[in-house]
Amino acid sequence: MKKVMIAALFMLMFFHVISQGNKGAVSLIPIPVSMQTGNGNFKLAKTALIELSTNDADAKRVAGFLSEKLSAATGYKIPVKMVNTASHTAGNISLAIVPGAAPGKEGYRLLVTPQSVSLSADKPAGLFYGMQTLLQLLPKEIESKTAVSNIAWTIPSVTITDHPRFGWRALMFDVSRHFFTKQDIKTHIDNMVRYKYNLVHLHLTDDQGWRIEIKSLPNLTKVGAWRPERKGAWGNTKAPTPDEPKTYGGFYTQDDIKEIVQYAKDRFVTVLPEIDVPGHSMAAVASYPELSCTPGTYFVNAGEEFQVWEKNGNRALIDNTLCPANENVYAFLDKVFTEVAQLFPFEYIHMGGDEAAKNFWEKSDAVKALMQKEGLKNLEEVQSYFVKRVEKIIQSKGKKLIGWDEILEGGLPPDATVMSWRGSGHGGIEAAKQGHHVVMSPWDYTYVDLMQGDIYSEPPEFGTLLLDQSYKFEPVPEGVDPKYILGGEACLWAEHSTNMRAAQYLLWPRSMAVAESVWSPKEKKNWPDFVARVEKQFERLDVAKIKYSRSMYDPIFTASVDEKGQLKVELKTQLSDLVIHYSFDETNPDEFYPAYKEPLIIPKDALHLKVITYRNGKQTGKQINMPVEELIKRTKKG
Ligand code: ACM
Repeated sequence: MKKVMIAALFMLMFFHVISQGNKGAVSLIPIPVSMQTGNGNFKLAKTALIELSTNDADAKRVAGFLSEKLSAATGYKIPVKMVNTASHTAGNISLAIVPGAAPGKEGYRLLVTPQSVSLSADKPAGLFYGMQTLLQLLPKEIESKTAVSNIAWTIPSVTITDHPRFGWRALMFDVSRHFFTKQDIKTHIDNMVRYKYNLVHLHLTDDQGWRIEIKSLPNLTKVGAWRPERKGAWGNTKAPTPDEPKTYGGFYTQDDIKEIVQYAKDRFVTVLPEIDVPGHSMAAVASYPELSCTPGTYFVNAGEEFQVWEKNGNRALIDNTLCPANENVYAFLDKVFTEVAQLFPFEYIHMGGDEAAKNFWEKSDAVKALMQKEGLKNLEEVQSYFVKRVEKIIQSKGKKLIGWDEILEGGLPPDATVMSWRGSGHGGIEAAKQGHHVVMSPWDYTYVDLMQGDIYSEPPEFGTLLLDQSYKFEPVPEGVDPKYILGGEACLWAEHSTNMRAAQYLLWPRSMAVAESVWSPKEKKNWPDFVARVEKQFERLDVAKIKYSRSMYDPIFTASVDEKGQLKVELKTQLSDLVIHYSFDETNPDEFYPAYKEPLIIPKDALHLKVITYRNGKQTGKQINMPVEELIKRTKKG
């Protein structure tokens, strides 16, 4: 009895210490469900082993990943050693499958003491996510691909039990507007799993390129994958000419797709393929013009304007839709989905369904005849007819249909799942109320391709989404039964992303914000704490050579004219502890320049308002030289 008492007392002391200890040293994204920090550190020595107590092939692969990563950065050789039972051998890292170690197939439990590290999970996926946490606990140099010397490879004492809030934690990658290589997709997967994403949604087709080999329809990649290259402003370039070489683009062969799917699977990532129809189909129509309701010669769009956005939706200047009244279209889609279904093991196929312009359908005799024959009252019902037929095709391949929320218009097919992209997730709310499953990706929280700072200081995009707004993403809308919400998704559209560095600049840190919203408990989210953790992640991304944006440090400018007719500018930052210093005299401001306290009246004759942010005497943001002309222009808008 006395022994038990002493042990209990010891435990109490230990946990007291745990709750006090290493707090500041731990900076995880996404924040775990439960975490207690302790005193002291585990020190990874040259002689350390990874002890694995299971023969499970997936768990072995995780142990192998950990061994590779630790060995590369430390320069030590840290091998995997098979052991019979879960061990806590001093100096080693143990990986074990332990039934009930943590909830669900992705949960894990991580215990770090000065003596040992033990990671356990019910399933290998849990070990994989526990490994991501473990890596974030190590010094940032662990992100180096080559050996770094003179580092104390310590891991703070910690006890973590963790599991995700949602099973669908996705990052969408638009590989159509600009082609990204197979290696780029693998890199994208490597980067997303750091933050415990588990699904990559590949937007494989659009007006600017068809990216997947369909063997029974060779023109899709012979013609549809290629266009002339254009620089300059998207939506304002020259249309391709018939004799112009079309050499910009590319596609994935079916072998490439198999390799990508396997690469993803090895990392517990599911691949969702999207074939976007009936709109966004210029590349398909350029390949097979007979699929259009409007006879003509078509080219894969090279970035030139071909549709306009009006109050009631979009109007195409060139018909970029498949013809819903043409039986050959359904035969075409049957071929496409047959091959897609064979390549991707995931139960879902995404059919797009967004932004289909209907102005050419309106003029089509074939569509009019279809409406009469099927008793379709309007063009929304024509779209719904199309979507329902696509659902049948997809189901005939043993798969489920998911589509953007326009598939609600005119009536949702019976078993469809909705990916809700429009503002604030209205489509998702409606679909859930109808009893359909929903993935939430509202553009005003999760479109990580939008500008992340003032429009003047960012590369051009279609709108703005600041990090603090992204962090407010809540996948379960008010009044919706959570059982219908599969999870959430950050979307990286790529009209303006010509390369991986540009894509990464948009992805990070906003995709960290979305990751935390889909993994962590809602009540654990905390904006100032998140920002502090993001800053730690920046240091890691620097070592990993992954590009990210520091725009969260930059102010946003709002211009107005005051009651005296003077031009006034208000500056706002997302982070409350930054000081903005400014100048109007063309010199470059620093921390000794005036600090912004209240809206500024622009002095007469000033050419620029130059601003820069500091925190505790250290520069944080970039210098922005805002032309006064631009501010005047803003007061005249709208
Ligand atoms: C979309 O952004 N059109 C899905």
